[in-house]
Amino acid sequence: MVARVTTVAFEGTNVLDIDVQVQMSNGLPKFNLVGLPDKAVGESRERVRAALFALGLALPSKHIAVNLAPADVLKEGSHFDLPIALALLAAMGVLPLEEIAHYTALGELALDGALSPVAGVLPAAVTASAAGRGLICPEKNGGEAVWAGELEVLAAPSLLALINHFKGTQVLGRPVAQLQSDEPGSYADLRDIKGQEVAKRALEVAAAGGHNLLMIGPPGSGKSMLAARLPGILPPLGADEALDVSMIHSLAGLLDEGKLLRRRPFRDPHHSASLPSLVGGGMKAKPGEISLAHNGVLFLDELPEFQRATLEALRQPLETGRAVVSRANHHVTYPARVQLIAAMNPCRCGHLDDPSRTCGRAPKCAGDYQARISGPLFDRIDCHVEVPAVSAADLSLPPPREDSSIVAARVAEARAIQAARYKALSNDNKTLPPVRTNSQADGELLEQVAAPDQAGRALLTQAAEQMKLSARGYHRVLRVARTLADLAGAEAVTRTHIAEALSYRRLNLGK
Ligand SMILES: Nc1ncnc2c1ncn2[C@@H]1O[C@H](COP(=O)(O)OP(=O)(O)OP(=O)(O)O)[C@@H](O)[C@H]1O
Ligand SMILES: [Mg+2]
Repeated sequence: MVARVTTVAFEGTNVLDIDVQVQMSNGLPKFNLVGLPDKAVGESRERVRAALFALGLALPSKHIAVNLAPADVLKEGSHFDLPIALALLAAMGVLPLEEIAHYTALGELALDGALSPVAGVLPAAVTASAAGRGLICPEKNGGEAVWAGELEVLAAPSLLALINHFKGTQVLGRPVAQLQSDEPGSYADLRDIKGQEVAKRALEVAAAGGHNLLMIGPPGSGKSMLAARLPGILPPLGADEALDVSMIHSLAGLLDEGKLLRRRPFRDPHHSASLPSLVGGGMKAKPGEISLAHNGVLFLDELPEFQRATLEALRQPLETGRAVVSRANHHVTYPARVQLIAAMNPCRCGHLDDPSRTCGRAPKCAGDYQARISGPLFDRIDCHVEVPAVSAADLSLPPPREDSSIVAARVAEARAIQAARYKALSNDNKTLPPVRTNSQADGELLEQVAAPDQAGRALLTQAAEQMKLSARGYHRVLRVARTLADLAGAEAVTRTHIAEALSYRRLNLGK
């Protein structure tokens, strides 16, 4: 007889059902595990054996074969311990086989039989729910599993608790759904920033339309400060967006105590970050920073200090909203729709615009420093803004009147206008891709929603020629202009909006 338990394997955000089969037959006592296990899965034999021993159960002295089917999919991770243990217990007659067949199981066993949390419980629960199965997982992952829907979730602290549940001696209750807290006071406030009105306005515009933004200025002018205040003015995640990003964080094992994310992710990798850590990949094709920032902000501080190849690898995900990680025999895709915020100094010493402080190599050093970032990457950034040094007079001013909540309200209003517009358009035309913000509008759709008035078009055509805007650059100006009109509550894109949008592309970068 073969005992079977369903578990899962992950290929990016794809979840594959894996059949754990256990057969006990007469022969030399042996415990074999086959079906392309990686090192961690191979070692699960020892953990399972020890966990059963802790329950006072010894493995029968038989030939035990464990197969993980389909055999050609690589099995990675430690979550195979629990399904293997359950299938063994079913084969030994300790657990009822028919009941276990209604669940997908995943979890890591400690030597004393306790269940440790594992990565990927939320996507596994979504897949189990779609297949009409329940889910068995470690207690600490229960809070995320129940977000998948109405499925039955057994979140057990230990193997013993599961056996007791199936025997009916101590029934496990449904875990409580966990949600990250979202107190307004937990964000840094824009009121801390003195002066820098242009940069603050650009930050508001970027937040309203989901645009990419580059801040350039001398050291200590407040670029990092400004970026850190962006999450405080962004609208909270919608329910489906929250589920999407939480799935990725769950796969990466970063969902704090199984709490669903509520705030937009803000990821600020250090400039020494490697290509796989930024775009995804490595040993287990884990999601990179750009995917962890999905539906949120990727902040690259000190942009030119990043390795060139790493930055270039961001080009494609920034354009398509997907990060594709190639493995030996297949591709893994993660969603990566992010808002890129970057900050940099104009040159290595940072004081290019201050003749009294600049180094002897200026202005050549600035060209060299900025050339570390390719033109195509600059081209992908909708707004470039200068953040000049703050004067002592500015710093002694009283704090500004507007705090983050006032700006956040304006941003939310502009976002609501965009959401309503794109919803109405997609109702009329079902073939349109799902668009939520102006930054995602493309091609024909953009022409339709952001067509400027006559004066605006004339200004744009003239500026595009003088500034040598690429086709992409031209469209980016239109997108930003649409956001400016939305912020002002205006129906049409006019010359004023085009002029302000053009001012955010004035810096002669990447040339
Ligand atoms: N506009 C400002 N208003 C108030 N304080 C400021 C402002 N700009 C800078 N500061 C002060 O200077 C410190 C450094 O600012 P920040 O780290 O944002 O500079 P930066 O522009 O990122 O510099 P770098 O280019 O060196 O990274 C802040 O912690 C803050 O105390
Ligand atoms: Mg900084």
